[in-house]
Amino acid sequence: MKERILTGIRPTGNLHIGHYFGTVQNWVKLQDEYDMFIEIADVQALTDNFNNPEKVRENIKKLAIDLLSVGIDPSKVTLFIQSMVPQIAELTVYYSNLVTVARLYRNPTVKTEIAQKKALFGNDGESVTYGFVGYPVSQAADITCFKGKYVPVGDDQLPLIEQTREIVRKFNSIYKSNMIEPQALLTKTSRIKGLDGNEKMGKSLGNAIFLVDDDETISKKIMSALTDTKKIRANDPANPDVCMVYYYHKLVNDNNIETVCSECKKGQRGCVACKKELIAKMIEFLSPIRSKRKYYEENINEVDKILLDGANAAKKEAEKTIKEIKKDMQINYYE
Ligand code: TRP
Ligand code: SF4
Repeated sequence: MKERILTGIRPTGNLHIGHYFGTVQNWVKLQDEYDMFIEIADVQALTDNFNNPEKVRENIKKLAIDLLSVGIDPSKVTLFIQSMVPQIAELTVYYSNLVTVARLYRNPTVKTEIAQKKALFGNDGESVTYGFVGYPVSQAADITCFKGKYVPVGDDQLPLIEQTREIVRKFNSIYKSNMIEPQALLTKTSRIKGLDGNEKMGKSLGNAIFLVDDDETISKKIMSALTDTKKIRANDPANPDVCMVYYYHKLVNDNNIETVCSECKKGQRGCVACKKELIAKMIEFLSPIRSKRKYYEENINEVDKILLDGANAAKKEAEKTIKEIKKDMQINYYE
């Protein structure tokens, strides 16, 4: 029997190549080796966007199509929408007694996110909601509802996995239960840099290449990417290690990477030509993803069916878990 993996992603926008090379490419590999559940975390997205429900709603199918287009295979993976499995919310309530408010505020991921919010909206204590501070509890429910043994995540998510493990240990010790303590499955390169050289590629940072971008958009974006600023003329030698064009060549033009590197260093390669080569390679890389996207966009019923089937399968698993948990908690009246 294959071991179970659960991971989640918030539906807040289209996927970019940072998501792909940082995270999703790895999921595509893992789906062959594991019994994999992928949650489209709409409830978690609402903790940030509760006053903007349209944004969450309109991104559900976009995200599903993105995931299917890069090769997530519904015959191997249970792909489901979080809110369609109410048992997760139920389990969140039970877990909420096992976590102190102080501990949640100390969670490094929550801490960073609160600091970011304060920087954006001012130092207003009122702006941090109960739902937001509590989202690690909900994430613990996401994982354990499906008895996920491994959780493939980037290192920014480690504190959330650690908190999940704490909750599980406490649950097991208080209720004499044997819930699985999940382990993080770290993705090697979880963060892909942006076109401007920023450590993170992100929609809000305006430095991302999206999987849905057309040729012209890709071309424009790559043409304006950060290169070695010391290089003025086409035949100046330069340092590829400070150049984002080189950085992306490594992702989509690996076969030719040594040539790119040595020509750049020796001044045998102009930046414009180098960027054009990258544009061609990027488009080549996106081409199979685009044809799959076209298929799913034209067959949206199939996407609906995948999400409905996924929710039903997920619900079945979650129901089993909740039943056991309620028994352990002695709230299984009349069962
Ligand atoms: N918090 C994760 C993120 O922002 C998304 C997520 C939701 C998740 N539920 C999860 C990740 C469960 C792993 C397991 O990227
Ligand atoms: Fe970057 Fe290519 Fe220019 Fe070198 S030649 S600085 S790798 S764009």
